[in-house]
Amino acid sequence: MTVTATAGLKSVRGPVLGLPHLLQLRYNPIEHNAFLREAYGDVFRLNVFGIKMYVTAGADMAEQVLVNRDRAFANGPAWSHFIGPFFHRGIMLLDFDEHLHHRRILQHAFTNDALRSYHSVLAPHIRSNLAEWEQVENPLLHRMFKALTLDLALETFVGVDLSREEQRQVNKAFIAAVRAGTSIIRKPVPGSAWAKGLQARRFLEQFFRSHLPAKRRDGGDDLFAQLCRAQSEDGHGFSDDDIVNHMIFLLMAAHDTTTTTLSSMAYHLAKHPEWQQRAREESLAAGDVDYDGVLRLDALDRVMKESMRLCSPVPSLPRVAVRDTQVGGFHIPAGAFVTVSPYMNHYLPELWPDPTRFDPDRFAPDRREDRSHRLAFEPFGAGVHKCIGMHFAGMQVRAIFHELLRGYRWSVPTDYVWPLDLTALPYPRDGVPVRLERLRG
Ligand code: HEM
Repeated sequence: MTVTATAGLKSVRGPVLGLPHLLQLRYNPIEHNAFLREAYGDVFRLNVFGIKMYVTAGADMAEQVLVNRDRAFANGPAWSHFIGPFFHRGIMLLDFDEHLHHRRILQHAFTNDALRSYHSVLAPHIRSNLAEWEQVENPLLHRMFKALTLDLALETFVGVDLSREEQRQVNKAFIAAVRAGTSIIRKPVPGSAWAKGLQARRFLEQFFRSHLPAKRRDGGDDLFAQLCRAQSEDGHGFSDDDIVNHMIFLLMAAHDTTTTTLSSMAYHLAKHPEWQQRAREESLAAGDVDYDGVLRLDALDRVMKESMRLCSPVPSLPRVAVRDTQVGGFHIPAGAFVTVSPYMNHYLPELWPDPTRFDPDRFAPDRREDRSHRLAFEPFGAGVHKCIGMHFAGMQVRAIFHELLRGYRWSVPTDYVWPLDLTALPYPRDGVPVRLERLRG
């Protein structure tokens, strides 16, 4: 099928029926992406449940769309389509000047000093939480990481003393809001995930609003308090509504992404015990470390990057063209949905030799395969919407693994392959069952 091109531009082509290809991309993403690229070029068109999606392949295309020099692509209309009702007015859903205004204020909550203080809040909670893992009878690492990151978010993000029941309610509402974004029925049918998501959003709004006056008054080291005092250079801060919207969005942006990264690292380290041992020896040698020490763990850094390359926690980044434009010489009409897929780009053989192999040393200083192109490695996106929590995530993930490696050894049977579900955000359907052994001394 062909779309009419404007003068001098190539038409975007793609298969007539979307569903068979969506299924192939779900179960066989790397090979099928290569097949579609070969058949139709670096931009091809797919019908995704009624949306005409212009899929881009390769680092050059990713750079054009994400760096967005001529402001042809917008985030708001694209992301709103998927998660708008639950995460509206989150910064990722804002565009252009308004986005820049909010981002300038928000970045004050992610300075080095702020990260240091988040680390000092996190470290003891990680230690005490992981100590309890010893008692878990049938450990499912993905589920345990999910519970851990939610608990940590209550400490570092929210920083409000809550009873067990209140914690349970906040966690429940948060999970319902996240789940609703990926539900198939996209109407508030009573009892549906969508309806529960809307109810959860109301609950979370009310929760943050009720704690705002005290937070503004008393401050603290948590992200909520940082948002209350954050100001741009010209002295602008956030309104109450802004803080509520940003808090709800930040919790969401941090949660599944961090959990997936942790699970991917744990899975690959279980499959490659030599790397698990190398990272463990590094952590044992380093002992108790502060924020700067955690960032110096080199083997861990490479493992984290390689695990994110092999399983990009945000597999695709949607945009909408705000006017007629082009990508790589292909015509993109105004209103079209365009996607960049870090998940697939991370397997391109022109950027990553032997791409399916777990090889953390590709990030070593003498190889730096991630520098083969400015956008070769893009798990945190690029351009003005590049993840603002990238350093926070790196710190938290390393801090968790530093403790985990010193306290436990874990393994999986040699023939185990994690069953990754790629319908929305990637997650292992079986929760990643492992044998977990406590290390003493
Ligand atoms: C390993 C964990 C994480 C990954 C892989 C990740 C990935 C991403 C990606 C790919 C984007 C860009 C989306 C786009 O361009 O459409 C993004 C944006 C964002 N992320 Fe993260 N993220 C992670 C953790 C976090 C954490 C911990 C936070 C907050 C503490 C956070 C907050 C945000 C925010 C606020 C945005 C929107 C930025 C903007 O639009 O200006 N993320 N993230």
